[in-house]
Order: sequence, then structure tokens, then C-alpha cells
Amino acid sequence: MRRAFALGSEARERRHVSRVSTVTEAAQAPRPGAEGTNAPDERKKVHRAETKTKTPLEAKRQGPTLEDVRTDERVRTYIRAANQQTGAIGYTEHGERHATTSADGARFILRSLGHEARRCELAAISAYLHDIGNAITRDRHGQTGALLVKGILEDLGFTTAELATIMGAIANHEEAEGGLPVSAVSAAVIIADKSDVHRSRVRNPKTTTFDIHDRVNYAATSAEIKVSRKEKLITLDLTIDTEVAPLMEYFEIFLTRMMLSRRAAEFLRCRFALVINNTRLL
Ligand SMILES: [Fe+2]
Ligand SMILES: [Fe+2]
Repeated sequence: MRRAFALGSEARERRHVSRVSTVTEAAQAPRPGAEGTNAPDERKKVHRAETKTKTPLEAKRQGPTLEDVRTDERVRTYIRAANQQTGAIGYTEHGERHATTSADGARFILRSLGHEARRCELAAISAYLHDIGNAITRDRHGQTGALLVKGILEDLGFTTAELATIMGAIANHEEAEGGLPVSAVSAAVIIADKSDVHRSRVRNPKTTTFDIHDRVNYAATSAEIKVSRKEKLITLDLTIDTEVAPLMEYFEIFLTRMMLSRRAAEFLRCRFALVINNTRLL
């Protein structure tokens, strides 16, 4: 069986997206379970952009959860502001949809690789919060976001070690800001974030005025993360409408993101593959 996480094609009609996404790092290194465990080697799961990410009971018992974070009024306000402000400067959707999609993806990656529930929860929380710094400024939003959430997460009862993990993951998610995978949680956040290329993120209603980012995102009708625990392989499987954007445009703006995703997969002791329109390109 194979594990996969996908943005559904059902979102393709939504061109306007008003709302629509502990320890030391060495100790957090990926620990894929032993072969022959009950967990399947590979998984396939279809995820829709609007799906709510779920909180395992085990993670709930271990501390505050994503649900506690996402329902915090301060978090809601900052994510709304981040989305509004990135929109004001011409970026694609960076709000609840992207936060939730990234959270689901990060949790899915670590869970598929057999990581413990609390770490999966921290990955979901970090991914949910990763772009919140856009509420302050686009430039260095990873670092500002990490500091922005610190007090909130302290109030919610996260331990200092968990805070360090979450803040490190948020601050290291952006390739343009020198971000690098620094933990298993951070690696999962990077892959989940970079995989969220989809037409539902495009806010510009006029196709005639699309820039390259709008075109490439609009051209992506399906984005699916597949994890093969047995093969130690993480695959981003995209469907791109090449009549909307040629593949060269995808690589023009996404190559550095794919390189960082590959590095993140390697941190998780996996290889990274990019498949576009059924052809493996990386
Ligand atoms: Fe970002
Ligand atoms: Fe992001």
C-alpha cells in the first residue's frame, strides 16, 4: 500500500480564494519504523483543500494540540492579517487554506514514516503557523513568525522544548530566507509548504493579468504528496495544465523550492522525487 496526500481537483473551479492553509533536533531525527510492523509501508490518502486536520487522541493527551492553536483568537487574527497583507502585495493565498493544507501535509509525512504522535502534532502546528509572520512583513516572515507565536504558545501550555522545535521549523521554512531543515518537524513543514501549488491559491481574477506565479499555480490542478516508507521515498506528484503554463515556468520559480524539499526529504532519510504529468523529473 502506498501513502499519498493530495490537493483535490475539486478546488479547481475556485479561482477566488477569500478564505479559502522537544527535544534536541538530533533526537528528533526520523525514526522510520522497523519493517514488518503493522503500519503499511506506503499510503495513499486523498486530501481536499478544505479538509480539517484531525488530532489523534494520543497527541491530545500529551499537550496542547493544533485545535487549541487554530481556535486561539490571536492566531486567527494574525493568519487573517497575513493573508490580507500578502494579497495586498500581490501574492497567492497565504491564509487558512494554505495553513490547513500545510498542516495536514506535514502531519501526513511524519505519520507515514512512523513518527510518534506528539511529533506529528508539532509538525502540524508548525506548518499551520509557518506563514503567520506575513502579518508583520513578507521579508523575513519565517523569523518574525517564529517570534510572533512564542508568547501565544507559551500561554497555551507548550513546553520550552516544544517551543524551540516549532519556532525552529517556522523560521526555517523559506528558501529565500536561508531556511534549512533543522529537525524532522522542520523537514516535514518544508515539504508540505512547498508542495502546496494549486490553482485554488490564485487570487487574481483576471487571467489576462496573471504573473508567472499566478500562471504556475493556476496551471496546477492536482498536487499530491506520496510517501513510501518501504522505499524511503517522498514524491510530489503534480498535474500541470501546460496550456496555462509551460513546465519551464514551473521550474523557473519552483526549482529552488524543490531543491530545499529534496534536502528536507534527505533529512528524513528519504529520497525526493518530483513527478509532473506522470513523468519523473527529479
Ligand atoms: Fe512562507
Ligand atoms: Fe507557505
